[in-house]
Amino acid sequence: MKIGLLTGGGDCPGLNAVIRAVVMRGSREWGHEFVGYLDGWKGPLEDQKIDLGPEDVRGILAQGGTILGSSRTNPSAIDGGEQKVIENVRAAGIDGLVAIGGDDTLGVARKLTEDGLGVVGVPKTIDNDLNATDYTFGFDTAVNIVMESLDRLRTTGASHHRALVVEVMGRHAGWIALHGGMAGGADLVLVPEKEFDLAEICSHVEACFEAGVAPLIVASEGAVPAEGTEVTSAKGTDAFGHVRLGGIAGWLADRIEEKTGRETRSVVLGHLQRGGTPTAFDRVLATRLGYKAIEAASQGDWGNMTTLRGTSIQLAPLADAVDESKIVPADRLTEAGYGYPA
Ligand code: F6P
Repeated sequence: MKIGLLTGGGDCPGLNAVIRAVVMRGSREWGHEFVGYLDGWKGPLEDQKIDLGPEDVRGILAQGGTILGSSRTNPSAIDGGEQKVIENVRAAGIDGLVAIGGDDTLGVARKLTEDGLGVVGVPKTIDNDLNATDYTFGFDTAVNIVMESLDRLRTTGASHHRALVVEVMGRHAGWIALHGGMAGGADLVLVPEKEFDLAEICSHVEACFEAGVAPLIVASEGAVPAEGTEVTSAKGTDAFGHVRLGGIAGWLADRIEEKTGRETRSVVLGHLQRGGTPTAFDRVLATRLGYKAIEAASQGDWGNMTTLRGTSIQLAPLADAVDESKIVPADRLTEAGYGYPA
């Protein structure tokens, strides 16, 4: 078989580990040939591709990012885009695709499958917000980066008796904030799933200072104040129509300082959370998901994505992953002591 591979959406640690597993195992065990499409769906749309053999993926397990490049190109938003992708893939003699991506990339994969193109998906996102899988690779690495940052910020905040607001990624789901905040011992965690009340946050900040603690607040970029709307960076939207977020930490720090008189600083962790080498957990998960994907493609199990259920790797229909996002349930906030105000 000849298989095309692509990585779409925001990059994340572990993408190269998936590519490596697919190509190495696929060529060794099934004798497949591989083509790497460049920059997500832009690759098959514009027929930009490279040959990929085991020698090209040797040594990339620990490498962050993706050797194939990524983009947020959306063929479904372009007139005739999906048809063009199918034509190019067929003209190249490719039997099917392995698409590694989040809800947007897998949403396109699902549509293409319905149009008759064979696609197997591999779920990826540091946000961990994809349904039908317990965890996505990249998430554990991001959480570890948040935890290490909080460990560092706590000591400087305490030395200067300052409140610190730390903004982490997560547009609609607060998994990074919740897990990063718990691991780093944050005093408050604000997530998109639950609007926060500024007055309550300020009294919690005051209570922390009175107890001799310099408060550390973790806020998802999509956290929303009850009295307002989304705090956005006013940089427009991407090809999938997502508003570019950013700015909640600065917004909140200014208001906390204004209302409590306590010195408050903000830090945006941003793309630091997506870069660099994956953790051991993410390398193992990515490798297992990659193997399952090439096994599924070899057996013609198109229209599915690989998933982690408990400790086992399984297949689930692409539709299960993209119909709805996996958001943080209220009881997980309560359990962590972050049902605001804490
Ligand atoms: O991939 C998802 C994500 O990590 C979101 O949490 C974040 O809003 C977005 O990527 C930002 O991506 P970019 O800056 O590449 O558009």
